[in-house]
Amino acid sequence: MCGIVGTIGKTDTLPFLLEGLGRLEYRGYDSAGVAVVNENEIKIRKAVGGVSRLVEEVGRNPVQGNPGISHTRWATHGSVTTENAHPHLDASGRLALVHNGVVENHKHLREELVGRGHTFHSQTDTEVLAHLIGESFDQNADRNRSALVHAMQEALRHVRGTYAIALIHADLGRFLAAARSGSPLVLGIGKDAQFIASDAAALDGWVQDVVFLKDQDIAALDGESFHIAKVNGSEAAVPKLRKIEVEARATGKGGFPHFMLKEIHEQPHALREAMKGRIILEEATARFTGLHRTNEQLRDLKRIILTGCGTTFHAALAGEYMIESLARIPVECDYASEFRYRNAPLDSETAVFVMSQSGETADTLAALRESKRKGALTLGICNNVFSTIGRESDGGIGLRAGVEIGVAATKTFTSELLILAMLGLMLGRIRDLSQADAMEVIEGLDELPGLVARTLEREQIIASIAAKYATARNFLFMGRQANFPIALEGALKMKEITYIPSAGHPSAELKHGIIALINEETPTIVLAPQDEVFEKNISNIEEIKARRGPVIAIGSEGDKSLESLCDATILLPAAPTFLSPFLNTVALQLLAYHTAVIHGCDVDKPRNLAKSVTVE
Ligand code: AGP
Repeated sequence: MCGIVGTIGKTDTLPFLLEGLGRLEYRGYDSAGVAVVNENEIKIRKAVGGVSRLVEEVGRNPVQGNPGISHTRWATHGSVTTENAHPHLDASGRLALVHNGVVENHKHLREELVGRGHTFHSQTDTEVLAHLIGESFDQNADRNRSALVHAMQEALRHVRGTYAIALIHADLGRFLAAARSGSPLVLGIGKDAQFIASDAAALDGWVQDVVFLKDQDIAALDGESFHIAKVNGSEAAVPKLRKIEVEARATGKGGFPHFMLKEIHEQPHALREAMKGRIILEEATARFTGLHRTNEQLRDLKRIILTGCGTTFHAALAGEYMIESLARIPVECDYASEFRYRNAPLDSETAVFVMSQSGETADTLAALRESKRKGALTLGICNNVFSTIGRESDGGIGLRAGVEIGVAATKTFTSELLILAMLGLMLGRIRDLSQADAMEVIEGLDELPGLVARTLEREQIIASIAAKYATARNFLFMGRQANFPIALEGALKMKEITYIPSAGHPSAELKHGIIALINEETPTIVLAPQDEVFEKNISNIEEIKARRGPVIAIGSEGDKSLESLCDATILLPAAPTFLSPFLNTVALQLLAYHTAVIHGCDVDKPRNLAKSVTVE
């Protein structure tokens, strides 16, 4: 996690650092800080809280300088305090450094440094990096820019773990250095300034070209030119300049009180975008040009693995139902966070779909690299197609959901579901799915944005149900088949933004233990659309009611039985069975959202979370 922005140019760097940092707040918002070189001194400002707190601090205590580095933190080592906020200084106080990643051997390195007389001022793993590099630099008689690069090479060889770092030194004037291993870092080249950032999106509008730094790269910038070296001293490859189109940034809330609500309402549009140009009516199929695979190659696949984390993993679980039923190809879902810790058998007949809206989730990236190492075809499904996962996959599919700012994923989840449904359609059509059955799927998909828009019209009903049950201390969510992962997702949304303990279960598991949790105070949300398992869901509801558990049912328009049986009912537009997960998701997003608002929670920035989890 954590976001880094550094710049070196002709003018004061503060406006760029603060704005760029704001764009990276999705990576963490526990604390923020900035360091600049000003008249041969390092000046630092820090604040606990989001970037707005740092802006206030700089307003109270102005500072300017060039070059500058900045950081928004998601705490890993050491609590959320000003002392632990980055940038951190070396022993001389003349080198300032920011870091994204985890130094796994920081304890050992710290002990050695303390043994050599160093004093530490924070509990972070990061501070050892500043001390190690600073110590090595101070031992070099030259004390010039090359000496700093050598000091980085010397120090970073002792570091185990992951890092993206940027540093400045008061004695080196217009000079900024950066390095990466395992954590992303991009170098941006503008007309009058050069930049370093965790994500190219932070540099939107300021740079013409970017260079995605590679693991073990050390970049040295002087404002006009840059040089890349390797940590181990080997020759670096000639850097590849890339033009990058950063998607138009969602600057405002568009009249909504929160980004999350705006993004929930953007779903009909996002779904239309995901389908645009990808449905081939004449062949009754879907096509994704970014996969770079022929039908023959795709037909040879014997197995599919869908991997991701959190909400994206729930999309994968729902995708398993969709792909297996449409394409009759075995699908397995794996938590990306577990994937590399088990010895999954992989081969060239397996395609691993590596799913991540951000494309930067460290665990998912590790699953991608492990799959590649074992010879599987890796295909990314990302919202940010320029992300590390987007770039490192053998092929991929973009979600086209537009920038998602709310930390709780909403529109990217339904876009992931849609991509997986279209993938099932495409794989089905190169196997056994008939033209007629495929056309039914396509007709359903065509209706989907409209059905989601009509689901959104139920917002007031959902808000009033949220008000009725907002004081609940726990929630249970249940569903069957592809609606089981939606129950998991509904519970995750509720947990993330309201902090109310909530759990999702397959409805059929009720009798196998979960029923012990049923009591008068615990509402159960049951997903019960009109489908072939409707009667089974009714039985589950009866079992809950027999134990006086309140039931909120989410069913289909025209249903008569749910209202008389349940304590609250949300009836959604009647839809083909394979589309009910989309509509149920939207209802559950709204339920969690309105419950969070009643509780006064920070909906867009829930406590302890970050949009993109870039550490293991
Ligand atoms: C979802 O609301 C969460 N923010 C989280 O579970 C997220 O889905 C997960 O961290 C994976 O993120 P990714 O899709 O960007 O890889």
